[in-house]
Amino acid sequence: MTPTHKSPRELKAGGGLSGRVRVPGDKSISHRALLFGAIAEGTTTIEGLLPAEDPISTAACLRAMGTTISPIEDGKLITVEGVGLDGLQEPGEVLDCGNSGTTMRLMLGLLAGRNGRHFVLSGDASLRRRPMQRVGQPLALMGADVRGRNGGNLAPLAVQGRKLRGAVVGTPVASAQVKSALLLAALTADGPTTVIEPAHSRDHSERMLKAFGADLDVGGEMGRHVSVKPGASLTGQHVVVPGDISSAAFWLVAGALVPGADLTIENVGLNPTRTGVLEVLEQMGARIEVLNRRDVAGEPVGDLRVTHGPLKPFNFGEEVMPRLVDEVPILSVAACFCEGESRITGAEELRVKETDRLAVMARQLKAMGADIEEHPDGLTIRGGRPLKGAVLDSETDHRVAMSLAIAAMMAEGDSTLARSEAAAVSYPTFWDDLTRLRN
Ligand code: S3P
Repeated sequence: MTPTHKSPRELKAGGGLSGRVRVPGDKSISHRALLFGAIAEGTTTIEGLLPAEDPISTAACLRAMGTTISPIEDGKLITVEGVGLDGLQEPGEVLDCGNSGTTMRLMLGLLAGRNGRHFVLSGDASLRRRPMQRVGQPLALMGADVRGRNGGNLAPLAVQGRKLRGAVVGTPVASAQVKSALLLAALTADGPTTVIEPAHSRDHSERMLKAFGADLDVGGEMGRHVSVKPGASLTGQHVVVPGDISSAAFWLVAGALVPGADLTIENVGLNPTRTGVLEVLEQMGARIEVLNRRDVAGEPVGDLRVTHGPLKPFNFGEEVMPRLVDEVPILSVAACFCEGESRITGAEELRVKETDRLAVMARQLKAMGADIEEHPDGLTIRGGRPLKGAVLDSETDHRVAMSLAIAAMMAEGDSTLARSEAAAVSYPTFWDDLTRLRN
């Protein structure tokens, strides 16, 4: 049989790792640039947009509602012709959010206030299993009408646009997706809205909405209160998207683990609401230098150099979780190669990501012989004994696919990885970069 990209990928064990890599644009910032550009007045230009499946889903939904967005291609400047705060048209088709939770959740907030218009949102099998009431319920406090399967929790979801009320809304989880949905809804409500989070989640929406001209204030302890006054129109901007620290994390861990490795990851977003992985790697004793720190279009950016060195086990919990929620899979791989016991707690949110990432990582790493125990809210990993090459499966999850690629490189014996193409959801050139950096 001729191999296709859907055949299990062969992952050779061993080899070195060195060179420079520029990871693709930040996924969270890419979604927001497209969404805010669509409801701004005038043209938004986006440099460094992530040309991957998730932002492409956001762009497709916005196009279906009358926004003109140039083709999303690697290295191209993307233009979005804004339709203004109330210019999105009722689509004649279901809005397909693909695999992207950010697309679906932010769309709910964006569309709930389009008075008199009707929208249906759906996505792939993974997205149709993910909880949406965490957005629908707080939006309902503003008068939104969002319905779905399972009492409104699961897509397909129907949104009947309504005039929304400004409100003080507490979110049930520290989730930037939930917060951002509420902030989008607040832009056209009939009065001011304050969103209060249980813990401060990533703040890309706050930064970018302000840059687009929204009347937005951040206050409260550690920025947990965000207030929006409606009425200000947004104006198209030039957005520069930094590299995604969640994609850089695979190289940071690989560089720390692979004997003799020396990697420089260029142009990585270092927003402090996202850098928990650096804090944990630092506690582990990883040799990481931040070079060329700068500010680009309202986001801190730097280059990260990582060299191989011994790592100590870690112990982290809910306090840091919002700052490294997407990096738990690759950190669980790092733990397998540290002598001693590592513990992750307060990570229940991992169970409602693209897959149940605690269960999937435990299952896949066990197949390689790892000593890993799953708890309702985390993992305990006793590291230090070698992993063996195995028959692996991403179970359709992009971050699992890339985490297992690094584990397989460090194993004794080769592995195969089924559904490796999942990586394209956030990092379409991952496999090419891996081949290029290995030596
Ligand atoms: C994201 C927020 C996080 C993260 C996801 C992207 C965002 O989800 O896991 O990959 O762009 O706002 P939660 O908000 O559910 O924690």
